[in-house]
Amino acid sequence: MSANTNIESVQREDRVFEPPPEFAAKAHIKSMAELEALRAEATSDPEGFWARLAESELHWFKKWDTVLKWEPPHAEWFVGGKTNISYNCLDRHLGTWRRNKAALIWEGEPGDTRTLTYQQMHTEVCRFANVLKRIGVEKGDRVALYLPLIPELAIAMLACARIGATHSVVFGGFSSTALVDRINDAQCKVVVTADGGWRRGNEVKLKPAVDEALKETPSVKSCIVVQRTKSKIHMESGRDHWWHELIETVDANCAAEELDSEQPLFILYTSGTTGKPKGILHTTGGYLLQAHLTTKWIFDIKDEDIYWCTADIGWVTGHSYVVYGPLSNGATALMYEGAPNWPEPDRFWDIIERHRVNILYTAPTAIRAFIKWGEQWPLKHDLSSLRLLGTVGEPINPEAWMWYHRIIGRERCPIVDTWWQTETGAIMITPLPGATPTKPGSATKPFPGIEADVMTRDGKPVGANEGGYLVIKKPWPAMLRTIYGDDERYREQYWSQIDGVYFAGDGARKDRDGYFWIMGRIDDVINVAGHRLGTAEIESALVSHEAVAEAAIVAKPDDLKGSAIVAFVTLEGGRVPTDELKEELRKHVTKEIGALARPDEIRFADALPKTRSGKIMRRLLREIATSGSVAGDVTTLEDFSVLEKLRTEEE
Ligand code: PRX
Repeated sequence: MSANTNIESVQREDRVFEPPPEFAAKAHIKSMAELEALRAEATSDPEGFWARLAESELHWFKKWDTVLKWEPPHAEWFVGGKTNISYNCLDRHLGTWRRNKAALIWEGEPGDTRTLTYQQMHTEVCRFANVLKRIGVEKGDRVALYLPLIPELAIAMLACARIGATHSVVFGGFSSTALVDRINDAQCKVVVTADGGWRRGNEVKLKPAVDEALKETPSVKSCIVVQRTKSKIHMESGRDHWWHELIETVDANCAAEELDSEQPLFILYTSGTTGKPKGILHTTGGYLLQAHLTTKWIFDIKDEDIYWCTADIGWVTGHSYVVYGPLSNGATALMYEGAPNWPEPDRFWDIIERHRVNILYTAPTAIRAFIKWGEQWPLKHDLSSLRLLGTVGEPINPEAWMWYHRIIGRERCPIVDTWWQTETGAIMITPLPGATPTKPGSATKPFPGIEADVMTRDGKPVGANEGGYLVIKKPWPAMLRTIYGDDERYREQYWSQIDGVYFAGDGARKDRDGYFWIMGRIDDVINVAGHRLGTAEIESALVSHEAVAEAAIVAKPDDLKGSAIVAFVTLEGGRVPTDELKEELRKHVTKEIGALARPDEIRFADALPKTRSGKIMRRLLREIATSGSVAGDVTTLEDFSVLEKLRTEEE
């Protein structure tokens, strides 16, 4: 099989959902004509388009001299401009009626709540920025944030941004080893953590993991600890300080630094295919513009909305769509600390009903879990406040899309399926809910100003419905600037695979209407009898069977066909794994896609190995299917017992 062979696409989905007219009438972008006009403007003069919006939507202390400096593969946006994200997210609202508006409505897993207005957020951020300065953090220094999903995490990010320090948020579920790697890679000076957080009724202890990590991180001079669970922890004298004590020692005024547009804002680590995580570096002005604008247009945020993105801030989704995008827009964002099934599987619906949430943004993996737990849970609740739904993180299979549409959206709410990556910083391919007709399973079309395409490995555009490699053809404001400390890897990974374009690493096809259908990571593509198939499509076919809750497809070497298809399947509650069912599922895939995609082997499992952000780790399943054991890196795995079980079932 040559590397230039395209990926075959086998999925077909014909349903189309028009934007509801009453939604469109009130939306920021109200029609296809309006959207097309924006696209046309952006295509004919991309720099002019972004500059116009940067000027009208954001505060600049000093305007830029050059919109874009593009020396491939390095882009700089709004060069010479001075701004500050913390100022844009807080200070600029204080002179308006929004001063007293809720910026953040937070709910802890045990049920405790906190609401912070823009004025209160501003005070907290200023105080913490002063704390950082007092302990010696300077512009350009890196600060690691290893916290539960509590307001202090957003406050600490904004405080770093305020003084020009670069934050590196490490998801609170990561182990101390993962923390060591990330702290050392970025040479962080300070770690901000908490005693612990709450998850499924249990305390997730953070400080002990930090204590362990700090034995191997010579760059760290201080550790600041938020008191959340009040469990007993060790405080190292001279190194560790309580957050609540430090903020008493500083005043509540801290002017936002006038920072270069290209001042590094954050590093966020994302797993590569080979062990070492990549520190994705984002900067200030361009990132803010795209996070702001996508939040406004895609989530159609209005002042009266309560908007809830369920992502943890440990992921890029939480950076752009829990913190920076919503606050820059002066919106009210909800934040929930804990698990969706605590104390019962209806926690999300309960939160939506109680807080009257209007916009919900979550992940397909969560939606599939809700389907598995049963529709009786959402049906118990009044979800009539919802007006818009979103998904991100994986291809959403049409079955799950339809369930989300029917059971959560009650056939009333548009769904925005948003494609993007840690690297892209903000949403890239997406419907605009008042303008774009949607098709279940398609992220539809690029956001205005984004030039995406599908190409062969040697850089030729593919025809309609032919699978290929998803690429971005022009630099965009929120794009990653490099991999921290490894510019060569940045060049190699993203800009050298196909000449002259950004290589996203995803397979995709465009249909006749130009709609993008993401087929999953290229590394997960399997090659059966000379056909390259995206795993997402076969998985989607399996999940469309009523007995199946989740499915993961991997290939294992096969003498005859090159690869054999192995399906790992979890069943809906109450369904019994039998050989008859295996046969039925094979037939079902044959019917849905064709004999080509028929799984050679089906293995039932209680659960699938996932990363902590909910992505199925097919790499591990591939190892299990092939050799029966796992030798590769498992530091990003959420639940080790899943792997153990799969292994034992195998033996
Ligand atoms: O494979 C795509 C998938 O998630 C990858 C990016 O993962 P990460 O950097 O962790 O960021 C997740 C949140 C932005 C992509 O390369 N992905 C993300 N959104 C979608 C998606 N696949 C299909 N449809 C989506 N809407």
